Amino acid sequence: MCGIVGFVGDKNAVEPVLCGLRNLEYRGYDSAGVAFYDGSKIRNVKQAGRVAALENELVDLDIINTKTAIGHTRWATHGTPTKLNAHPHYNKDKTIFVVHNGIIENHQELRSMLEAKGYHFVSHTDTEVVPHLIDFYYQKTKDMEQAFTSAINDLSGAYAIVMMSEIEPNKILAAKLSSPLAIGVGKKNNMVGSDASAVADAAKKIVYLEDYEIAIVEKNKYKIRNLKNKKIVTRNPEDLLLEDVRSSKGSFEHFMLKEIHEAPKTIQNAILGRIKIETNEIKLGGLDSVANQLRNIDRIIIVSCGTSYIAGLVGEYLIEELAEVPVEVQLASEFKYRKEPYSPNTAILAISQSGETADTIAALKKIEPQGLLTLGIVNSPGSTISRMTKAGIYCHAGPEISVASTKAFTAQVTILVLLALSLGKNRSKLYKDLLVELASLPKTAEKILSLSPAIKEIAIRYSHHRDFMFIGRGYEYPVALEGSLKLKEISYIHAEAYAGGELKHGPLALIDENFPTLALASSPTLFDKTASNIQEIKARGGKTIVVTTKKQQKHFKTIADDLIIIPEVSDQLSPILEAIVVQLFSYFIAAEKGCDIDKPRNLAKSVTVE
Ligand code: F6R
Repeated sequence: MCGIVGFVGDKNAVEPVLCGLRNLEYRGYDSAGVAFYDGSKIRNVKQAGRVAALENELVDLDIINTKTAIGHTRWATHGTPTKLNAHPHYNKDKTIFVVHNGIIENHQELRSMLEAKGYHFVSHTDTEVVPHLIDFYYQKTKDMEQAFTSAINDLSGAYAIVMMSEIEPNKILAAKLSSPLAIGVGKKNNMVGSDASAVADAAKKIVYLEDYEIAIVEKNKYKIRNLKNKKIVTRNPEDLLLEDVRSSKGSFEHFMLKEIHEAPKTIQNAILGRIKIETNEIKLGGLDSVANQLRNIDRIIIVSCGTSYIAGLVGEYLIEELAEVPVEVQLASEFKYRKEPYSPNTAILAISQSGETADTIAALKKIEPQGLLTLGIVNSPGSTISRMTKAGIYCHAGPEISVASTKAFTAQVTILVLLALSLGKNRSKLYKDLLVELASLPKTAEKILSLSPAIKEIAIRYSHHRDFMFIGRGYEYPVALEGSLKLKEISYIHAEAYAGGELKHGPLALIDENFPTLALASSPTLFDKTASNIQEIKARGGKTIVVTTKKQQKHFKTIADDLIIIPEVSDQLSPILEAIVVQLFSYFIAAEKGCDIDKPRNLAKSVTVE
């Protein structure tokens, strides 16, 4: 999950590296560090905390004449987030510096081997074995590229590794396995980085590295070699698109709020060019190449994590109802442990905002030998999952910066509606009506956003609670899960989510005057069942906030403590709108509590470790 940047050029190498690190902070923000060559030696500056803390350490240093630099922002896996454990790590005479993202699974074994040979370790990280190992091979071969290659060949696990050395100070060496890494190609300088935003400061083009490749990057050239067949790889650089690069939060206080407010545009971008109301058509170009296979699928397994998993649950309801294809949603982190039979016509659908989530990648890798159809619903163009799947549909939601996912969920569910309708075109009676309704959904989403002041007022009144319950039935159940996930991750309030029908099977025991419930009850078909839940909660002294429609509000007026009245839409589309309500509700509670909303404690945006 950490972020990596490197620069090699004519001058001022530290600036673009710091810029890349600021852009990469979404990947981890426990500690940060840089190493740079000042013309005579490599200097190393690290600090616990944010990149800003690292920048403070650098203010008095002359960084103008630096030609090569590498940097890192960390999300701790091995070793606490201290200055000592921050990257870059180095060998004993501080001539080889390494930054790393991922986990080196055999680090203990390598550490013991190196310690036995007299190497001394100063940190508690798995990464520190790498500079010592490179040093070990360099002492034998006196060839840095060879030493780097030999060290990489000894590693198992997942890694993106970048190194610089005093021996060849104008070169950066990089290697990748199951963790993203790219070369940013500029004029008279080149960069390496974890994603496009990392290299955007000085590069106009980008080349994504594949697994088992190493890159040797210099200011005017670079070379990629495949570690397995040892051959040089030729891959044309792609244009670095502006939309791949991090945006600003404009007038919004947090990226999360900005991204929630992008919902209407997000829905619009997800359907843009994909639906044609006049001809009753849905065109999902990304699936054209597998259209024949899709016609024959008899089961879909959705694999994903966190919010993307919850979007998958909505997808399950949608595809089963509209396309009549059985669907199962599995947590990607559990999928790999299951030993289940698959029919040859099973399709695996991976959903991921980042396209880099290690568990989802591992799920796809597990299924590779079966030769099944793999599909992706991914937001980040060119990401690992988008490249691993045979076909897919991009979300086109633009970069999501806030760690808590909001607009990506909106886009994922919109795409799942399109997918379900397209698979069920000749089966579902709802096809035409839903298509028309979907086209007007961006406008309806605007109406939800206009409820912000009312949602804020309610959220502030409830912000002192330590516990929260979310309930919903049918399509509204996944929204309850999403509300509870959002609230806990950004406000650190304990939150539970249950299908309304489950309440009396246990969780009702939690309810008292200090344990409020947010109930999703805008469904035109299930509102009365949820009304019974509200009665049960009220009878136990529990407070309730009910999200419902103008039409149904009469059923809740006398029993709910607070009402949020939203426009009525079909059951199948309600998760898209209700998600905006629970996102705003969670946001305003977290804001009232003064939480670090865009960078909640202990989390990172892109979970690239299993
Ligand atoms: C929650 C959140 C996470 C991600 C999860 C999967 O707000 O952001 O739960 O949804 O880590 O990430 P992606 O979608 O990038 O695979």
